[in-house]
Amino acid sequence: SWTMLNIVEDAVEAIRAQIGPEGRAICGLSGGVDSAVAAAMVQRAIGDRLTCVFVDHGLLRKGEAEQVERDFVAVTGVKLRVADAQERFLKALEGVTDPEEKRKIIGREFIRVFEDEQRAIIADGPVDFLVQGTLYPDVVESGGGTGTANIKSHHNVGGLPDDLQFSLVEPLRALFKDEVRRAGEELGLPASMVWRQPFPGPGLGIRIVGAVSRERLEILREADAIAREELSRAGLDREIWQCPVVLLADVRSVGVQGDGRTYGHPIVLRPVSSEDAMTADWSRVPYDVLARISTRITNEVREVNRVVLDVTSKPPGTIEWE
Ligand code: XMP
Repeated sequence: SWTMLNIVEDAVEAIRAQIGPEGRAICGLSGGVDSAVAAAMVQRAIGDRLTCVFVDHGLLRKGEAEQVERDFVAVTGVKLRVADAQERFLKALEGVTDPEEKRKIIGREFIRVFEDEQRAIIADGPVDFLVQGTLYPDVVESGGGTGTANIKSHHNVGGLPDDLQFSLVEPLRALFKDEVRRAGEELGLPASMVWRQPFPGPGLGIRIVGAVSRERLEILREADAIAREELSRAGLDREIWQCPVVLLADVRSVGVQGDGRTYGHPIVLRPVSSEDAMTADWSRVPYDVLARISTRITNEVREVNRVVLDVTSKPPGTIEWE
């Protein structure tokens, strides 16, 4: 729209003024809409003087890494460095089952990989600016200070090392989420990125109850893709706040398929409706949609023989299982 166009153009002008004619900037991409829109704006303002970094920790959902590496780059022309850190994260997470421990490890490894990338970029010349997708509600929540390190630590793996050598560029500081999405559309970003529902920084790592492994991630990724596809097809994307799909990796139950007994894992569907994620209710997803998801997951994901629905509100249950 006309006003959104103005908001984008004004932001681009302000970024140019802040960074100046020679300055260089770095921006971490998480796969989410905020960092993508911030990066796209800064790219418009300073072109190749922005380098984006995508840490592929292997904990994203099906298709999300490609969306960043291929679709986002194609649309924006952004200069991107991809750190393929999947092995590193798997190794660091090996055998770890405690949820807080997992979060700490993922956060720590993320910062280390990001810092390595940062060093490589700085080797090409000085970088003074770090771009962050801080939104207005984040600013308010953290007391409105200007910013250096504004982040709710456990809440943003896409955010960053607490590096005071950089000045922050925060082009979304005055915007609400829906405005960021509209700006994303204005910038031509992929719809699935612009409209992505909330997804936690630690990703699928905290949706496997039990230790994380490559095989378990693969199972969860397939089940999650089916659930997302069927919920979208039923037109429920806007109605549902988000729907974590959780693998109970240490639980097995007996089933039967064809002539044979199976001994597989349960998958939990956790569709919730919410205004702000502080409280939530379980979504009354129509039975026929649930039936399709269940049938498809148990047919298409060999290791899963049971699909269960989480009917707990928040409180007492959190939205995520870990
Ligand atoms: P809970 O599970 O606490 O989740 O009810 C509330 C909302 O926050 C998301 N979430 C996270 N987001 N990093 C994030 O960026 C995290 O570590 C994290 N943990 C939970 C969750 O998906 C829900 O939208």
